[in-house]
Amino acid sequence: MYQVLYRKWRPHIFGDVVGQPQVTTTLKNELKSGRINHAYLFTGSRGTGKTTCAKIFAKAVNCLNPIDGNPCGECENCKGIESGNILDVVEMDAASNRGIGDIKDIIDEAQFRPAKGKYRVYIIDEVHMLTTEAFNALLKTLEEPPEYVIFILATTEVHKLPSTILSRCQRFDFHRISPKFISGRLQYVASEENASITEDASMLIAAIADGAMRDALSIMDRCLGVTSNITVDTVRAAAGLAQKDYLFELAAACINKNTEKALSFINQLYNDSKDMARLCDELLDHFRTLMLIKSTRNPQQFVVMSADEFEEAQTQADYLTLAEIVYIMDILQTAYQRMGKGNSDRVELEMALVKLSAPELEGTNEALISRVAALEKMVNTGKITAVAETQQQTITQAVESEKPKVPVKEPLSPAVTEAVKEEMNAEAEAVPLPTEPESPKVKEAPVQKQTEASSSSLEDVYLNAKPFRQWPEVVENIKHYSKAIASAFSDTEAYVSGNYLLINADSEIPFKLLRESAQRDKVRTAIQEVTGKIYKLGPYKKPEKQQKKTDPFEELISNLKENNVNITEE
Ligand SMILES: Nc1ncnc2c1ncn2[C@@H]1O[C@H](COP(=O)(O)OP(=O)(O)O)[C@@H](O)[C@H]1O
Ligand SMILES: [Mg+2]
Ligand SMILES: [Zn+2]
Repeated sequence: MYQVLYRKWRPHIFGDVVGQPQVTTTLKNELKSGRINHAYLFTGSRGTGKTTCAKIFAKAVNCLNPIDGNPCGECENCKGIESGNILDVVEMDAASNRGIGDIKDIIDEAQFRPAKGKYRVYIIDEVHMLTTEAFNALLKTLEEPPEYVIFILATTEVHKLPSTILSRCQRFDFHRISPKFISGRLQYVASEENASITEDASMLIAAIADGAMRDALSIMDRCLGVTSNITVDTVRAAAGLAQKDYLFELAAACINKNTEKALSFINQLYNDSKDMARLCDELLDHFRTLMLIKSTRNPQQFVVMSADEFEEAQTQADYLTLAEIVYIMDILQTAYQRMGKGNSDRVELEMALVKLSAPELEGTNEALISRVAALEKMVNTGKITAVAETQQQTITQAVESEKPKVPVKEPLSPAVTEAVKEEMNAEAEAVPLPTEPESPKVKEAPVQKQTEASSSSLEDVYLNAKPFRQWPEVVENIKHYSKAIASAFSDTEAYVSGNYLLINADSEIPFKLLRESAQRDKVRTAIQEVTGKIYKLGPYKKPEKQQKKTDPFEELISNLKENNVNITEE
């Protein structure tokens, strides 16, 4: 019978539990010295070894020949517990047995001595789900437990436990497992399964799994379904299998302010038995990805997606300012927190999406205040460390005012793209070659060459151009590619406008260099390394009309920016 990898490779001794020495060493020492407690609390995110350690512990206390604090795995007690023939170890899932009746059953049963082993061990998973009455009943037993009873409470959300319960338990915190340990375990399991996995591939899986060994093993399971020689490509393809189109579509509905579409999606997913709280969490994660794309230098490092998905995510990120993304996340987070507290998960999610997609609510005070608060908080706490490095840049981006409402792939129409390209080439071409005589007149010509329609859009590009503060850093970075190119750009300035990076130079040399694709690529790469974004390059021109900022939020951001964002919280 086929057994999924993570079940098959559940560690049977503490030595095989990786990345949790703070737990395994202490438990082993307690077992060796016989200092057994009656109530343990295992906390930490999912897939990190809580249930695994609880099971090892339950066996170890009942083992007839424990070895160095570990169960022997051979005696009748170890075998009986493993096979389920000995009923002295009871696992209960509090998520589906949350009532007082369920706890009463356990307490009644706990009055009987263990049949075979030394201890009756109750492992209560997701214990935070218990009702208040159930907690109170459990508390009474925890206060005066029979000497042969051990409770192991496990939870991913320790903050939801009453302090009275916390104070009765010896607490162990399980950490997210570091990629190095996850990768090592994957290598081990793969070789035991007569398969191979490259180092890159196991590290990639570790990154996707985000600290959860269970997830890592599940992904590897999927890869093994395809090939027994796993490479990075296998992982990408397998991770792509889990591609979540609906998240992109839901996000697009929010970006497009299409309430009807958003709600009909929810309806559809609800009818497909999609869990609404999970959906909310996934959507939150999706926007977090957009935030990372927007605010970090090499987003690909943090964001694990197929190339196609990444491109799509980047396009979505282009349509939102950082502040908007934070606002969206805030609303989703609030909805998520309200779920499961007697409110309907579906209604909470619907309300959140209506808030996010209804254009008429966008400018309300509430929305505005929330946007500001979220941004301030983020800036002050340095929540996203990578943002600090590119703060100026992202805030500059955040105030870029013109954003199209419909996510077409390119923020500017192809006509405009062409126009700018053409102008750039024309302008560059207007630069005389060193052997040619200077003719400043030619320089004016290209602009007049624009057609009426595209020149007005082009004007928008210039109008929205903001000083690009990372330019000196970019120029510094160009040095790695070519000192000569870097020196050509040393006295230049740059402006950013949407996807365009516009260069302002007195000399014609920079433009001449940019006309050659090899040099242009070097400059582009140098920019991408600093900003994480690929920009189209073009010459800067002073806009003819000046536009006044109208959005008070944007004014506020630019004030923040000018004051070096030093606002103290509360
Ligand atoms: N620290 C770990 N070391 C080795 N394998 C682990 C570890 N944590 C989890 N696993 C793997 O993941 C699976 C699920 O882990 P489990 O202990 O049930 O996680 P949870 O913390 O959610 O209770 C286990 O069967 C095991 O294969
Ligand atoms: Mg568990
Ligand atoms: Zn044993």
